[in-house]
Amino acid sequence: MRRPLVAGNWKMNGTRSSVAGLVQDLAAMDVPEAVQLAVFPSAVHLGQVHEGLFRSTIELGAQDCAFDAGFGALTGEVSPKQLADLGCEWVLVGHSERRLLLGESDEIVRRKFEAALSCGLKPILCVGETLEQRESGKAFEVVEAQLTAILGPLGIGVFEKAVVAYEPVWAIGTGLTASPEQAQEVHAAIRARLNKANSLVAAGTRILYGGSVKPQNAAELFAMPDIDGGLIGGASLSAEDFGAICRAV
Ligand code: G3P
Repeated sequence: MRRPLVAGNWKMNGTRSSVAGLVQDLAAMDVPEAVQLAVFPSAVHLGQVHEGLFRSTIELGAQDCAFDAGFGALTGEVSPKQLADLGCEWVLVGHSERRLLLGESDEIVRRKFEAALSCGLKPILCVGETLEQRESGKAFEVVEAQLTAILGPLGIGVFEKAVVAYEPVWAIGTGLTASPEQAQEVHAAIRARLNKANSLVAAGTRILYGGSVKPQNAAELFAMPDIDGGLIGGASLSAEDFGAICRAV
C-alpha cells in the first residue's frame, strides 16, 4: 500500500508577510492523517516556513538544489547539505520549468538527484512531455528517457527513497488538466518501466500527478490506480484549496 502524498510547489511566490499567513492557515488545516503532506516554498522562505510548521506534520521541501552535495565555490547555489541542515526532507528535481526555461539537462538532473540522496533528502523526480511531444505521439518516449537518465546510472534502488511526479508541461499553470485516463496511462507506463527493473520497488514507488490540479478535479485524478497523490502548484498557495485537494485523496 502506497501512502498518498500531496505536495505544494509554491514556485517563485510569496513575501515574508504572505508566507506567514499561509503557514498559519496550513498549520490549522484539517486533513486525514493517512495523507502525507509537504510544502515547497521559495528558498528564501524555507527557514521561516520550517519554524511556522514546527508543530505540524506538514513536511518541508526545496524546489531545487545544487548538483554538488558539499560546500564550496558555487555562487548562488544552495547545497542539499544546507537544505537538510535547514530542516528540509524533500527536494524537487528536474521540474519542467527548470528543464525548459533554465536549460537543465538530464545529466544535471541526475547529479542533483544523486546529491540530494547523499544528503538524506528525498527527491521528487519531475518528468513530463510538452504539447508538441504529446501531439507527435512521443509522450511516453520522452518520459521514459527522463526516467532512464536516473535509472541507468543510479539503478532502481534509488526509487526506494524517491518519488516520481508526472507533470505534462501542457497542463502546468494552464488550467488544462490531463484527463484521469490520460494521466493514468502515463503513470501506468512509468510503473511498468520501473517494474522492468524491480517489481517490489515499482509497486512501492509513489507517482504523483501535477498539472492544474484543483479541488474540483482532484478526486477523479486521485481515484486512478497508479496516481498516488499530487504535486500542486497554483492551488497550493491557498490553504483552503490545498486542504480541499488533500481531503480528496
Ligand atoms: O510542480 C507543480 C506545478 O508544476 C503544477 O502547477 O499551477 O498547474 O498546479 P499548477
